[in-house]
Amino acid sequence: MNILDQLKDIVELPTIPTTLVRVLRVVQSEDTDAKDLAKVVYVDQALAAKILKVANSALYSLPRKVNDIERAVALLGFNEVRDLSLSISVFDSLYLPTGGAYWNRAKFWEHCFVVAYLTRELARNMGLEGGNAFSAGLLHDLGKLIQDRYFPIVFRQIIERVDAEQLRFIDIETALFGTDHGVIGGYLLGLWNLPDELVAGVSNHHHPVEEPEKIATAVYCANEMAHIGGFSVLPSEPDGVLEEFYASPTTVALQEAGRLPSETILANSLVKLEENAEELSAQAAMLL
Ligand SMILES: [Fe+2]
Ligand SMILES: [Fe+2]
Repeated sequence: MNILDQLKDIVELPTIPTTLVRVLRVVQSEDTDAKDLAKVVYVDQALAAKILKVANSALYSLPRKVNDIERAVALLGFNEVRDLSLSISVFDSLYLPTGGAYWNRAKFWEHCFVVAYLTRELARNMGLEGGNAFSAGLLHDLGKLIQDRYFPIVFRQIIERVDAEQLRFIDIETALFGTDHGVIGGYLLGLWNLPDELVAGVSNHHHPVEEPEKIATAVYCANEMAHIGGFSVLPSEPDGVLEEFYASPTTVALQEAGRLPSETILANSLVKLEENAEELSAQAAMLL
């Protein structure tokens, strides 16, 4: 049986985090402002505390210490606080402390966070409107958490084979699961009724050629750039190499279709990643 059919039979799939529902409601309605977002964040004290911690981190180099959320929204911007709220509320509910002893969850989270940052950078340069880029990047590998939680034995086998045979995660999982973690993650986000663009970006981040939504290409490139920049998850996973990225059939197909971001845009994203690597790591650690 395909893993998606098996997933449909699991009755207690995680439900959408309450804070996330509230944040999305504020974000998606037309006439909301910093005050409304601050109100939602205030209700969740742990979330509010984490946002302030990040706001005061070196990544933003604010002139002075920020002590309240409304001020943080004013200084960081509505979108930035929205993205942080989404990140924290999703991961707080899915980032289970149990299981996963054989893979480094903190490294996984750091990878997702870096991909979120890069997807947002690329999306801006690709002229992508809409606010789903950061979330799509952050959640792109969500399916791996679901595999780990609901299919731990197979998931462990995949990781062990990646380690032993130096193969790509996606190739082994497709053979064993009949589909990949992108599709699995997208399935859950679809169940949660999240925006179609977000679902498309996550579902097809390894198959951007077949996906008309540009966001899948942005996540695909961001993920590859993260690997090239040294932000892989498993220690045995080889770091990506830019030449190999350009030679891969997916990249070539995107280029032929005129859908690949320019070399300059991609190179700039790598430079930005290098410049901010330390801060991004620190920020990711703060959000856990
Ligand atoms: Fe992935
Ligand atoms: Fe990834």
